[in-house]
Amino acid sequence: LLHTKFIYLSLIFHLLKQHAVCIPLHTLQRKQALHLKLHRRNSTREQLRMHHLFKQLPRAIIIGVRKGGTRALLEMLSLHPAVVKASQEVHFFDNDENYDRGVDWYLKKMPFSFPHQITIEKSPAYFITEEVPERIFKMNSSIKLLLIVREPTIRAVSDYTQVLEGKERKNKTYNKFEELVIDTKTCEVNTKYKAVRTSIYTKYLEHWLKFFPIEQFHIVDGDHLITDPLPELKLVEQFLNLPSRISQYNLYFNATRGFFCLRFNFMFSKCLAGSKGRIHPDVNLSIKEKLQRFFHPFNQKFYQITGRTFNWP
Ligand code: A3P
Repeated sequence: LLHTKFIYLSLIFHLLKQHAVCIPLHTLQRKQALHLKLHRRNSTREQLRMHHLFKQLPRAIIIGVRKGGTRALLEMLSLHPAVVKASQEVHFFDNDENYDRGVDWYLKKMPFSFPHQITIEKSPAYFITEEVPERIFKMNSSIKLLLIVREPTIRAVSDYTQVLEGKERKNKTYNKFEELVIDTKTCEVNTKYKAVRTSIYTKYLEHWLKFFPIEQFHIVDGDHLITDPLPELKLVEQFLNLPSRISQYNLYFNATRGFFCLRFNFMFSKCLAGSKGRIHPDVNLSIKEKLQRFFHPFNQKFYQITGRTFNWP
């Protein structure tokens, strides 16, 4: 069966090649990747070498932030023919047990790629885990770091919604958002609550800056990636020194999902899983405003450090 599939794909690929004039370059390259992927399924190490496929350490990492749109960013970047992604979150630098397994273990978790391609992984916990910047620096001090952020209050609600859903799945009860974000004793914002702390981006970024210069970071606007992804992706292509290849053809709005979905070629398109784009619970307006006031000074500092201003309240 695999053999028949292989012949069939070779034929399609050949036909595509003959009509290369009217088919976008990335479509052809994707087809080639698909063709090799199939071939790879029961291929030996020798065969992989023959096709110049090997595993590479990431040259860029999406370090966070949790609920910023990290999955969407990774998937959208993988539309680029020169980008391959580690599908799962690897959690190498934030998990002591994994880190102790060494860099060879990390490399094994990476997908096969061609020499001209770059590998990208995402593990949003990296951004807020103290040990991570130093560990990444020790592996590659010139690595490129991608950080995707959303308006901090929305991000906190998104974070809460994910935890709430997990509790509900286990038939457990959970506090309301308002109860968690406000300290009942002081009536102030509860900075012990993780969803609040994670949204204080400047606090974590300042720690990263002890190891990497700001030029090694690129900040992605996660709210903009939801409504109009292409301009954000173009900026990332530039930051990664990649030729501009992701186009409007690769992204289409799916009204049912309420989000942009991905078109790799005329045969293959996909939307993100249903766990991305959850409906958030309504939040009391005065609590929302209190949170926005709380984040405001941290946001100002974040704009100042990154040189990128957002329209956050
Ligand atoms: P919500 O579920 O709160 O809407 P992460 O991948 O870091 O967990 O981020 C999840 C968020 O990605 C979702 O948060 C969603 O809004 C956002 N997102 C951005 N682009 C998306 C897309 N094209 N499809 C689905 N979700 C997307």
